[in-house]
Amino acid sequence: MVQAAVLGYGTVGSGVVEVLETNRESIAKKAGEEIRIKYVLDLKDFPGQPVEKVLVHDYETIVNDPEIQVVVEVMGGVEPAYTFTKRALEAGKCVCTSNKELVARHGLELLELAKEKNVNYMFEASCGGGIPIIRPLTSSLTADEIDEISGILNGTTNYILTEMAEKYADFQEVLKEAQEKGYAERNPEADVEGCDACRKIAILSSLAYGAHVNYENIYTEGITKITVEDMKYAAAMDKSVKLLATSKREGDKFSAMVCPVLVGRDNPLYSVSGVFNAIFVHGNMLGDAMFYGSGAGKLPTASAVVGDVVDCAKHLHENIMPAWSSKELELLDRKEITHRFFVRVKGSASEKLEQAKAVFGDVRLVEAGVTGEFGFVTELMSEGEFEEKAEKLPGMISRIRVRA
Ligand code: HSE
Repeated sequence: MVQAAVLGYGTVGSGVVEVLETNRESIAKKAGEEIRIKYVLDLKDFPGQPVEKVLVHDYETIVNDPEIQVVVEVMGGVEPAYTFTKRALEAGKCVCTSNKELVARHGLELLELAKEKNVNYMFEASCGGGIPIIRPLTSSLTADEIDEISGILNGTTNYILTEMAEKYADFQEVLKEAQEKGYAERNPEADVEGCDACRKIAILSSLAYGAHVNYENIYTEGITKITVEDMKYAAAMDKSVKLLATSKREGDKFSAMVCPVLVGRDNPLYSVSGVFNAIFVHGNMLGDAMFYGSGAGKLPTASAVVGDVVDCAKHLHENIMPAWSSKELELLDRKEITHRFFVRVKGSASEKLEQAKAVFGDVRLVEAGVTGEFGFVTELMSEGEFEEKAEKLPGMISRIRVRA
């Protein structure tokens, strides 16, 4: 029997307990032995609930118990999760987590510590919820040089954008619904400002490119400025607005960015709706692959965590997770990254389109029946060039990048 402890009995923690209970027998067969939860650590009490029997409030009980071989850290946030994880690894216990904030910030160090102690630090659930993506990148696709990862990596924002597009509903109203459904973080800022997706693309890129991607260096723009009018233009162009987290190898250079992007119907990410996530990967041998599924929520995330627990149970004293290099991946300056841009301008096309052409060169008019303004799409240009030109066009309302 493998004995485990769960740190945090919130949405994911209670999901982990449920998954292990519901699929107890099949999980035991796959792991080669039964996995039992000996402790659940939480600050709260849960009177009358079955978890009460295994509930502890002091981490010392867990870290000092030699019978605990796997620690499931699903507390979220950096502290005390970081200290607890380090102490568990130092004590020779495996750690499985869904904590993307911690992995993005300290993953490199924690993977190295796990290697030194011949145990594992696993984080399949940290990116894409229930979608397997860490294992494909670290195992199935190791024959390839990965040259692009483009993902819809945040369920909350994809849900919000989908509802806004389908119902022409207001951002705040849909955000509230997402929180009620348990998709959004307690502090929704990390979701809607793109930070959550940024951490996830940093983790995936570090694994794919074999060098450390510092999430703080990734240009990140959220969806808070996207409006119902943008959705009307998107529909007129037969495109959808997606919060894309993208990293690319361009020759010997790399770029990474998180921002709303207009995606056309011919792109596989176009039809990824609601809370679903999808990760498009391009490899130099593989070509295209897309990983799609439930990107957030209690049971999908818990399923990925428990998958890691099973892997840890099978490799209790054998380090199988590749560490990524401590060498930092240098990212291209955002101003050098190229896109086409969709631009909204105050006024009428008959009066101002020529002016727009004089500034931006050849542009394509977009009409969506929004009064007092019009839109156009530019040719491909760098972010820097766009910004210089945009300053010369009075009345610009907003811009969204268009996937080439
Ligand atoms: N808040 C996150 C999301 C949860 O919406 O995708 C999963 O990481």
